[in-house]
Amino acid sequence: MSKTRIVVLTGAGISQESGIQTFRASDGLWENHPIKEVATPQGFERDPSKVYQFYNQRIARLEDDNVNPNAAHKALVDLHNAKNVELTIVTQNVDDLHERAGSPQVIHMHGSLREARCSVSGKVVPAVEAYGMERGCECCQPSNRLRPNIVWFGEVPFFMETIENALFHADVFIAIGTSGNVYPAAGFVELAHQFGAKTVELNLEPTGNHAQFDEGHYGKASEVVPSYINAFLNK
Ligand code: OAD
Repeated sequence: MSKTRIVVLTGAGISQESGIQTFRASDGLWENHPIKEVATPQGFERDPSKVYQFYNQRIARLEDDNVNPNAAHKALVDLHNAKNVELTIVTQNVDDLHERAGSPQVIHMHGSLREARCSVSGKVVPAVEAYGMERGCECCQPSNRLRPNIVWFGEVPFFMETIENALFHADVFIAIGTSGNVYPAAGFVELAHQFGAKTVELNLEPTGNHAQFDEGHYGKASEVVPSYINAFLNK
């Protein structure tokens, strides 16, 4: 029997119940941190220490004992382990909760808090525990600034070719906990649909793009995702 090929796209909503703030909620990350200042190459150029401070807070949050994968991350591991499924997880999240739940080979299209990169050579290294002005790369002489290996506004997301290839072959596309505000990820539903996949939205509430999906299930990720996946695996 051939395997069902599934592409899952996750966003901040899947990690919300794990204690990671989403971006666009009224108390979301972008409410108190202007995007231009902390998430653009120009902002980093202008005030690197402010950008370092922002990402140091994000890294510290990941280290908090109360921040752990939730039932939605774990359900995706069950989906991966199902014999009749070939799963690709693409995440916009820069946390490591999919990996900590046990998902292998997660595609981090917006990068990862766990990686840093030399701002001149582009060499990627494991993330420092805390960025600082005094702490540069080890690949250049003299040393250059390290930056988070995170895709900022105005930059091109990582692994686009791999993702488009997975969407091309997908039988099912599932978007979980993403508002569909940021392209190219917001366009994956249309692409998957054009390529012939069934499209499913799992979110707290219908997003602005919900009409583009064939099917939607709404509620907390920790409930909706395991319930959808269990039903899928038992059908
Ligand atoms: P957003 O903050 O835009 O959207 C979060 C989505 O999660 C919303 O649709 C919420 O309804 C939903 N949500 C919140 N809590 C939930 C829960 N407990 N269960 C299920 N759904 C829940 O976050 P993203 O769509 O991930 O990019 O944002 C996309 C990109 O915008 C991010 O990767 C980041 C940001 O700017 C960069 O920084 C490049």
